[in-house]
Amino acid sequence: KLDTRKIRAFKKKTAKRTLQMLTCYDYQMAQLMNETSLDLLLIGDSVGNVVLGYDHTIQVDTETMITFSKAVKRGAPEKFVVADLPFGSYATMELGVQNAIKLFQQSGVEALKLEGAFPFILEIIERLTQIGIPVMGHIGLTPQSVHEQGGYYTHGKDTASQTRLMKEAQALEAAGCFCVVLEFVEESLSKKITDKLKIPTIGIGSGKHTDGQVLVVNDLLHNGKKDPPKFCKPIGNLYEYKMKLINEYLKA
Ligand code: KIV
Ligand code: NA
Repeated sequence: KLDTRKIRAFKKKTAKRTLQMLTCYDYQMAQLMNETSLDLLLIGDSVGNVVLGYDHTIQVDTETMITFSKAVKRGAPEKFVVADLPFGSYATMELGVQNAIKLFQQSGVEALKLEGAFPFILEIIERLTQIGIPVMGHIGLTPQSVHEQGGYYTHGKDTASQTRLMKEAQALEAAGCFCVVLEFVEESLSKKITDKLKIPTIGIGSGKHTDGQVLVVNDLLHNGKKDPPKFCKPIGNLYEYKMKLINEYLKA
């Protein structure tokens, strides 16, 4: 089983492999993943999109994250499991500490993930790591801020945002994060950040140079009706397969 010390020290260059992370939302899939070589499991607030049918992750609350995180952790006791702190649950230091303790304590996950790197978020991250809650950072496209960011698009295309993202990544490392997710960050910038940081980067839609990769498992398996986003090449089509099985059963 991985721990934060091993993850902190993980860099693709020296490990000569990629840190592999997938999302997971339910007990049975967690049992399956528990028996694979996956390094990390994430109960993403993407549970709101792929399981609950919301348009955005914004509707997901702390109680929902606790319910799904408990289910996953029950199924994957052997894995290093990370859960998202959802929208609004860390809008202030007091809320952040309260909700982080609640989610961490009740679910038994190994770490939490927070989006963004504004100064007040860095302060919350410092506090959480100091009370013993490992934190994974997340910058670039941060879906909880979709309305503020103005949609889903690649970040780090101009010099100003490249400078800002590099600073944010370094600030997250300094605040105590053991790892940082780069979502939709331009590939060459992802490489620069990965080279600069001591902690590993985990990319999604950010090219091949990050120390790790994370994907929404429902996208990878084409579990849904809609085609997955372009950067994710599905390895099968569970939607069609399940449709076929159920239709065959119905005709039999
Ligand atoms: O919620 C999620 O699935 C995530 C990953 C895409 C990084 O935050
Ligand atoms: Na998320």
